[in-house]
Amino acid sequence: MSIIHSFSLKKLLPRTLFARSLLILTLPIILTLIISIYIFFDRHWSGTAARLSASVAGEVSYLVEQVNQHHNDDEFMKGLMDSSITHFQVSLKYIEGGKIKSDSDKYIGRGQVIRSMLSHELDKRIKRPYLILVDVEEKWTQIQVQLDSGTLIVTSPQRRLFSSSGYVFLLWMVGVSAILLVVAILFMRNQIRPIKRLAVAAERYGKGRDVPFFKPEGAREVRQAARSFMDMRARIDKQIQQRTSMLAGVSHDLRTPLTRMKLQVEMLSEGEDKKALKSDVDDMKRMIDAYLQFAKGDGNEEMERTDLLKIFERQENIFERDGFKIEVAAEENKTYELFLRPVAFERCIGNVISNAQKYAHNVWISLERDEDHITIYVDDDGQGIAEEHYEDVFKPFYREEKSRNSKTGGVGLGLPIAQDIILAHGGEITLDKSPKDGLRVVIQLPV
Ligand SMILES: Nc1ncnc2c1ncn2[C@@H]1O[C@H](COP(=O)(O)OP(=O)(O)OP(=O)(O)O)[C@@H](O)[C@H]1O
Ligand SMILES: [Mg+2]
Repeated sequence: MSIIHSFSLKKLLPRTLFARSLLILTLPIILTLIISIYIFFDRHWSGTAARLSASVAGEVSYLVEQVNQHHNDDEFMKGLMDSSITHFQVSLKYIEGGKIKSDSDKYIGRGQVIRSMLSHELDKRIKRPYLILVDVEEKWTQIQVQLDSGTLIVTSPQRRLFSSSGYVFLLWMVGVSAILLVVAILFMRNQIRPIKRLAVAAERYGKGRDVPFFKPEGAREVRQAARSFMDMRARIDKQIQQRTSMLAGVSHDLRTPLTRMKLQVEMLSEGEDKKALKSDVDDMKRMIDAYLQFAKGDGNEEMERTDLLKIFERQENIFERDGFKIEVAAEENKTYELFLRPVAFERCIGNVISNAQKYAHNVWISLERDEDHITIYVDDDGQGIAEEHYEDVFKPFYREEKSRNSKTGGVGLGLPIAQDIILAHGGEITLDKSPKDGLRVVIQLPV
């Protein structure tokens, strides 16, 4: 039960760091506001209002008694009216033979509060029918009481019944909270910016793009993470560079003696031996070329905006010269443009297609695009690869048993090179069973 509960809570939580920090900040403020407003209104404010009502109700009950006894004595009535204005700040009116109307008005907000407080206090003191009218706009409250021979109308200003300092207090609290919040948001934005920058830099680097102007900034932990990221980047770059230069050096050094050997073989007299030797030397040359290509990787090629359809068109032409037909299908009305290193990418696609050419008869290529990915499917109708070898074929120099020593004679670097290139673009290359019976190579690239 609690697992389900916390799971749904997690879903409700905002996703960005900014929104979360804002929530962490605002929630206590709002809670404090609600609690203090509740305490204030419940205890202090309603207590004050009750006391105000009690004093007005006491005066009304005194006036009711006086008027009921002396309403015929004009002299007394005049004195009473004058003194209630000066001492109680209420005005008095007596209507001989008057009857109060039944109360049908609705009261809301402040009017409701005043009326319920006042009637609570009046009920305790006056055992006669009465009626309360509140005019919030004009700020007065009227109490009409039914006497034996007429009606007494007492009109009191609102300030005698209602303390508006409560609203001022409320306004202050909300206002100060709002100001605090704005200040906090401004500060928080500055704190979050370096984290965002770090995230963007890491993402770019993950996609194999340049991260030229990145420098650590912000709070200590953020700087630390940024510095670690930069160290990591430097280490990876250095490792790649070392591997590259070593392999390139070895391959390059081997080329010169190999060229010499080739010349020497040419000078041998014709025969079985020469043929075998020549094919060995050719194999070696091809292998060394492949190592060099693998070692060089995608080198220092710059990323450019590239149309994938153009790249496939070129590949179609290249393989067609060899008599190998490629079918490319892409969803209409979608662009397949993205940032990549065109030469390297073309080599990757070339490797995959040439595998299909070697190990199958036909190849079908299809492109799909969604919001943040382009997916390329390369299907063929060959024998395919057993599922347990899907990972192995991406290891350098790995070749399947049946293709060893065969006339196809590869080195086993085609797929590793392709994978290297795709990973450096922040993408993914995987294998699957093709609906055309052979192998399906799936290349997914972020856009
Ligand atoms: N389309 C395919 N159909 C069947 N098997 C394949 C296919 N593509 C690759 N393979 C198998 O995976 C192995 C590795 O392929 P990879 O392209 O890396 O090397 P290769 O083709 O043997 O040599 P090269 O370095 O010349 O490309 C191949 O030897 C082959 O056995
Ligand atoms: Mg290959």
